[in-house]
Amino acid sequence: MSLKGKKIIIGVTGSIAAYKAANTVRLLIKAGAEVKVIMTDAATRFITPLTLATLSKNPVLSALSEEQQWSNHVELGLWADAFLIAPASANSLSKLANGSCDNLLTAVYLSARCPVFVAPAMDVDMWHHPSTQRNIDCLKGDKVKIIPVGTGELASGLNGEGRMAEPEQLVDTLEKHFSKGPLSGKQVLINAGPTQEAIDPVRYISNHSSGKMGIALAEAAAALGAKVKLVLGPTSLKVDNPNIEVFYVCAAAEMYAAMMKFVPKSQLIICSAAVADFTPKKVVDSKIKKSDKMEIELVKTKDILADIGKKVTAKQYLVGFALETNDEVAYAKEKLKKKNANLIVMNSLRNPNAGFGVDTNEVSLFDKNGSITSLGLKSKTEIAQEILQYCLSKMSK
Ligand code: CTP
Repeated sequence: MSLKGKKIIIGVTGSIAAYKAANTVRLLIKAGAEVKVIMTDAATRFITPLTLATLSKNPVLSALSEEQQWSNHVELGLWADAFLIAPASANSLSKLANGSCDNLLTAVYLSARCPVFVAPAMDVDMWHHPSTQRNIDCLKGDKVKIIPVGTGELASGLNGEGRMAEPEQLVDTLEKHFSKGPLSGKQVLINAGPTQEAIDPVRYISNHSSGKMGIALAEAAAALGAKVKLVLGPTSLKVDNPNIEVFYVCAAAEMYAAMMKFVPKSQLIICSAAVADFTPKKVVDSKIKKSDKMEIELVKTKDILADIGKKVTAKQYLVGFALETNDEVAYAKEKLKKKNANLIVMNSLRNPNAGFGVDTNEVSLFDKNGSITSLGLKSKTEIAQEILQYCLSKMSK
C-alpha cells in the first residue's frame, strides 16, 4: 500500500464540496496515511471541524494563533509528505497564486517543501473566468499539481465544468504519486503534435497531426511513474495530468530549442511530433496581398530527432516515428540509421485505421538490433502503453 505511513495535510477551503473532505480523510486513513487537516474559516461553515478531527484522529488546525499560542506553520509544512488542498475555492486559488498569507492554510502552503496537490471546486462560470484560469496557469508554473475538475451538475443548479474530483480520484492521485512505478525517478521527454511555420501574420504552413499519439505516450509514461516533459505543438487537445509538464510551442525552431534543453537529463526521449521539414525563409511582417502569382522560398528546418541522435549517450533511449505512404519497411530502416535512434515506430498512411486524427493506430517497431515487432490494430492509448513497455524492456537500468 503506497500511502501507508505517508504524512498528508488536507487543506479544506470554503466551498460546498467541503463535505467531500470527510470521505477523502476517511479513505486516506483507511489507506494507512497519517492525516492532519487545516481548514479556513469559510470551510468551517460548510463542514464542522469536529467531523474532520474525529475522522483524521488529529485536532483540526485553522488559526495562525490561538489563545496566545502560535501554530507553527513551518513545522507543519516540513512534516508533510504531501499537501492536498481539496476543495480549493476560487478565492483560495487566487491567494495561493499570489503568495498571500492571511490564514494558516496559505502560510503552510508557502512553507511546504513537499509536493502540493490542488483540487479546485467552483461554479462553471467562476471556473472559466480568465482570472481563475490565469491563477491555475500560475500555480502550474509554480509546480503545483492541479487535479482536473469534473463536469456535471453544480451546487448552483448549473451544469458544466467545476465539480471537484471525487475523493476516490484524489486518493488515487496521491497513491500514484507515491507508488514506485518502473519509470519513477526517470525523466521522459516527448514531443507531439504539428508545428506551424508562419508565412505572414495570418498564414502558416502546417500538417494534419492532432498530437493524440504523443499525448497518449505522455499519459502512459506518467502512469508508469515518470516525470514527463511534453513539448506540444498547436493542437486543440487538452492535457490535464498533474504529472505531465507541458511546454507549448508553435514553430519547428521553438520545438527544437525546447527539446534540446531537456535532452541531457532525460532517460527516454520520444520524438512523435510531425515537425515541418521546411519553413519560409522570411516571415513577411504584414499580410501578403493577393496577386497573380505567389512564391514562397522555403528553407529546411533542423531535424530534431537527428540532432538528438548525435547527442544521446548509451544510457539514454531514443525513439523516433516514421509516417510513410509507401516503401514503409525500407524507409523505417533508413530512418533508424540516419537518426541514430534505438527504435523507430512506423505507421502507414495506407492503413485507414492509423495516422492523423483517428483514435486507433497500427504500428510496427523497428529496433536498432534488426528486429521488427508489429502491434495489431489498437487504440492509441493501448499502443502507447505497449511502446513504453517495449522501451522499458530495452532501456539501461
Ligand atoms: N523529425 C524531427 N525534425 C524534423 C523532421 C522530422 O525531429 N525536422 C522527426 C519526427 O518527429 C519523427 C521522425 O523525424 O520522429 C521522422 O519524421 P518523418 O517526417 O517521417 O521523416 P523525415 O525525417 O522528415 O524524412 P522524410 O520526410 O524524408 O520521410
